Amino acid sequence: MSTRSHQLRLARRPHGPSVPQDFEIVEVPLAAPGEGEVVVENLWVSVDPYHRQVFDTVALGAPLEGRALGRVLDSRDPGIHVGDVVLHRDGLRTHAVTAKARVIRPEAGVPLEAHLGILGGTGLSAWVGLTTIGGLEAGESVLITAAGGGVGTAAGHIARALGASTIIGVTGSRAKAERLLSGPFDEVIVYRDTVLADELAGRDVQLALDGVGGDQLEAVIGAMAVGGRISWVGGISGYTVSTPPIAPRNLFDLVHREISLHGFLVRHHLDERERYEAFMTPLVADRTVPVEQTVVDGLEAAPSALSGLLSGANYGKHLVRLAE
Ligand SMILES: NC(=O)c1ccc[n+]([C@@H]2O[C@H](COP(=O)([O-])OP(=O)(O)OC[C@H]3O[C@@H](n4cnc5c(N)ncnc54)[C@H](OP(=O)(O)O)[C@@H]3O)[C@@H](O)[C@H]2O)c1
Repeated sequence: MSTRSHQLRLARRPHGPSVPQDFEIVEVPLAAPGEGEVVVENLWVSVDPYHRQVFDTVALGAPLEGRALGRVLDSRDPGIHVGDVVLHRDGLRTHAVTAKARVIRPEAGVPLEAHLGILGGTGLSAWVGLTTIGGLEAGESVLITAAGGGVGTAAGHIARALGASTIIGVTGSRAKAERLLSGPFDEVIVYRDTVLADELAGRDVQLALDGVGGDQLEAVIGAMAVGGRISWVGGISGYTVSTPPIAPRNLFDLVHREISLHGFLVRHHLDERERYEAFMTPLVADRTVPVEQTVVDGLEAAPSALSGLLSGANYGKHLVRLAE
């Protein structure tokens, strides 16, 4: 069993978007596991937009965290055995000593890494946004921003499976738009090629899931039907700016068009996980829903992956594969 780990750390604090030179990989000895802890070799590690916010506060020299799937090498948790695969939060390192790990049971037809994407917190965020918060009903029209990302691609599939009528996506490139159109999306708008607010004005959308905020949230408000609901999952356009965006400037439309705007954090809706997994696992297993992801290999690829998140480098869930 390895007694050492390679950890990703911040070498310096980024100002604005991070660049690969902001990171360093350091080799450290692994501590012995305490009661209730397990030693894991990480197989898959998730990189997420929230990491950029972490970079503003995490201590320089501290290992970066992240959701990960790891194989158990040693266990002092009576419910977890050597050889189990567990989901935990001590990612962005090759090996970890971690507590509060959850065993993932393999399912026929389901790739392991789907538990960090469509079947993990990313898919659950889309589910909660569309159902618990958004109350999606069959026959309703849906608008999804950041449609080519992990949450957006999952949301498209969930909306289609729940019987949405028209699904409109917003993304940053023609290549992503084509992939989305070959899946569940009926129309995709490339925001870099157009004035999004003009494109979306008066669309009478019943439910929107917005992960971008700022100008795009303003355009989304302009797209909503009277009585429409906006489920606000994130504000990625503002994650590297020091002053909050001025938009949306049309907030008063919420009043006279009776539109609701409801933000949420998926971690407060984990009670939905079982219901979501029961819904989505068979759809992934029989390939009705593809596992859409961008994979890079090795911890040394993580700095570029983390830095590329805010410039749209990924299609689907962005993952780092550390071992088979
Ligand atoms: N509330 C919660 O609990 C929760 C949970 C998970 C995620 N989130 C949030 O949900 C959003 C999507 O997350 P994700 O996991 O899907 O991220 P992701 O896979 O990294 O996808 C996000 C996409 O947003 C687009 N984007 C980046 N910067 C942008 C900008 N300035 N303007 C417009 N689009 C931009 C990029 O694609 P393009 O090429 O299209 O620009 C990027 O691929 C994020 O805001 C995230 O923080 C919130």
